[in-house]
Amino acid sequence: MTDDATVRADNRNYVFHSWAAQGSFEPLPIAGALGSWFWDYSGKRYLDFSSQLVNVNIGHQHPRLVAAIQEQAATLCTVSPAFANDKRGEAARLIAELAPGPLNKVFFTSGGAEAIENAIRMARVHTGRHKVLSAYRSYHGSTTGAMAATGEPRRWPNEPTAIGFVHFWGPYPYRSAFHSTSVEQETERALAHLRDTIAVEGPSTVAAVLLETVVGTNGVLVPPPGYLAGVRDICDEYGIVFIADEVMAGFGRCGEWFAVDHWGVTPDLITFAKGVNSGYLPLGGVVISDAVADTFRDRVFPGGLTYSGHPLACASAVASIQIFKEEGIVEHARTLGEDVIGPALRELAERHPSVGEVRGLGAFWAVELVRDRETREPLVPFNASGPAAAPMAELAAACKERGLWPFTHFNRVHVVPPCTISAEEVRQGIAILDEALAVADRYTTDS
Ligand SMILES: Cc1ncc(COP(=O)(O)O)c(C=O)c1O
Repeated sequence: MTDDATVRADNRNYVFHSWAAQGSFEPLPIAGALGSWFWDYSGKRYLDFSSQLVNVNIGHQHPRLVAAIQEQAATLCTVSPAFANDKRGEAARLIAELAPGPLNKVFFTSGGAEAIENAIRMARVHTGRHKVLSAYRSYHGSTTGAMAATGEPRRWPNEPTAIGFVHFWGPYPYRSAFHSTSVEQETERALAHLRDTIAVEGPSTVAAVLLETVVGTNGVLVPPPGYLAGVRDICDEYGIVFIADEVMAGFGRCGEWFAVDHWGVTPDLITFAKGVNSGYLPLGGVVISDAVADTFRDRVFPGGLTYSGHPLACASAVASIQIFKEEGIVEHARTLGEDVIGPALRELAERHPSVGEVRGLGAFWAVELVRDRETREPLVPFNASGPAAAPMAELAAACKERGLWPFTHFNRVHVVPPCTISAEEVRQGIAILDEALAVADRYTTDS
């Protein structure tokens, strides 16, 4: 029988942890989880407003998903990608049926970063060009190419990275890089900036524009109307592959199967992972347009993975998609955003001087915190750590004390619960956030 002390000791002594200085990292041992909740070994329960790493879209331990995995494990755990497999084919068909337009083939990977690597590889071979343009406010994964494409500071200690990666500013009306005073102006100026970047980099050198449809970890930045359609047009004009990274935004998170559906835009490649099977097993992939797939009709695709289309992972994707359809989870996430999360967060914003802006859609929201609503000075500086990040650490601690597990990044709290969370649970979580925001309010110029 495991206990808290053994789990702590083994994890401290033998596990090398992600994104952590190993000496001081003390992760909380988790004993179990169900639905929107998980609990520790003392029995303390937490409402999961993070969906772990924004991936448990279906909620924890969905019984039908667990049963489907058990059934597949009893049938066939694994078989190499060189064989045909029923669940692999079915998962690919279901995903292709959900994807927009002529995106009809799926390359499976074990996660998001590998999906990005392979999307870039496809774009490069397809165009015969090498450069990849992506946004400064982005995260695309921690393998070499995905990290090179990543715009945010996690790239810095990994530099020098791969060559041929160029960054540009995406739209962000609240903190416009273009000094815009309206969302229309932001769209127009952000598109002009992308066009200029392509012009000076040399259109004939650019293989892909890689964008998170809704920027996730770096702010839940919902693109203003017309932006994605404008990117599509620019890519068409120059023969550039448009890659939509939907690793975080896809599979219900934005209240759509694919986030691009919200704007009716069809990219050439879509990367996915996380919500496709809620991370019950490692799975990701690239949905590929007919035009890009045609490049590899007679030409060998120069990539592959031992676990590409892993039967157990694919069986979980098939079951997850069926459950999503039968339980109306995508529609539920959309309604939650419109009727529950959005209104409740806007109401918080009215009462808390530390709330600069709330934004989002579906089960994908950010509460951006500031010291001063007029100047919009962030509650903590960009990329703050240690004492400089104390206000955010105190806020997170105040949430956890009260049984809410928040997702925080820089000066923001993201409200990203499972897409299956009930309206009542959302209200419960936001009531805790309401109390905890008193901590942030104390740092404002109003206090
Ligand atoms: C938008 C986006 N792309 C790619 C990744 C990388 O996915 P993974 O951690 O599965 O490699 C992430 C992970 O958070 C992500 O949010």
